[in-house]
Amino acid sequence: MDAWVADRHASEGAARFPVTRMRRLRRTPALRGLVRENTVTANDLIYPIFVEEEIDDALPISAMPGVSRVPERHLAREVEAIARDGVKALMLFGISHHKDDVGSDAWREDGLVARMVRTAKQAAPDLVVIPDICFCEYTEHGHCGVISHGDVDNDLTLVNLGRQAASAAAAGADIIAPSAMMDGQVAAIRAALDGSGHPDVPIMSYSTKFASAFYGPFRVAAGSELKGDRKGYQMDPMNGREALRESAIDEAEGADMLMVKPGLAYLDVLARLREQTNLPLAVYQVSGEYAMIKFAAAADAINEHAVVRETLGAFKRAGADLILSYFARDVARDGF
Ligand code: PBG
Repeated sequence: MDAWVADRHASEGAARFPVTRMRRLRRTPALRGLVRENTVTANDLIYPIFVEEEIDDALPISAMPGVSRVPERHLAREVEAIARDGVKALMLFGISHHKDDVGSDAWREDGLVARMVRTAKQAAPDLVVIPDICFCEYTEHGHCGVISHGDVDNDLTLVNLGRQAASAAAAGADIIAPSAMMDGQVAAIRAALDGSGHPDVPIMSYSTKFASAFYGPFRVAAGSELKGDRKGYQMDPMNGREALRESAIDEAEGADMLMVKPGLAYLDVLARLREQTNLPLAVYQVSGEYAMIKFAAAADAINEHAVVRETLGAFKRAGADLILSYFARDVARDGF
């Protein structure tokens, strides 16, 4: 080994046994704490909830044990309780009883999206309120936009995404989070926000979103009527380079934050994207990931508390700044 290589190894702590003993720094909890590289706090977490209009009682979602649809009429009370548990940011999904072929309820001034945002902001003004901006919960066909000639029409959908974003911002949304995977959606929404007097409202784009089987429980939770799939607009799970392009394009269009979704099966994408961008980077631990942990824990195969922290920690290690997770409330309340 030449001198330079030997030096470099020494400075990286790679000197060999018995000089180097990796176990020295693992001997006590305090020592391990000193050298721990990542942690998760409530400041890193966004808690997604499902809100259904015109129901009286919370509706448990069987594929997501511990998660229920919140009746809209109890939303204020629920948001107060969530804030009391230490949650700092909320992602809102609506379950609409007013679906049509374009999802117009999603941008009505008194539609479900606007009402949820207003109620949540009123109940907990300090909470960061983030509506999911998409149409799949508001269209009869369950697709994320306007259908024409048997396909989701990209450019027609952009117009409606702009309307929905402007309406949500007018209702008091702190961040706009478009998840429709239409090309040009960040630019269209930025223009709509700026043009409607909301230049200060940031966009957290679901910039790299895969057509994933891990969304299975969500489709039930959100009452999506989808027949078929979203492979014509969401990404092929096999593609890594394309994943980086998707996020780079959204960054160029003016996104304030980016996102990788789902999480655990896409840690490589997250780590590579971290190298590519200096924007805040979010990751979404989706419904199927939640369900896997819940059902495995219920079968006594794994320890839920430990696995939740291991997965959330892995997202931070891979480069995420923010994590959307159905476990966010538990972690905010119980600590990491
Ligand atoms: C809406 C949307 C979906 C999710 C978040 N926003 C469903 C989908 O794209 O099919 C999935 C979230 C989850 O599975 O937890 N477009």
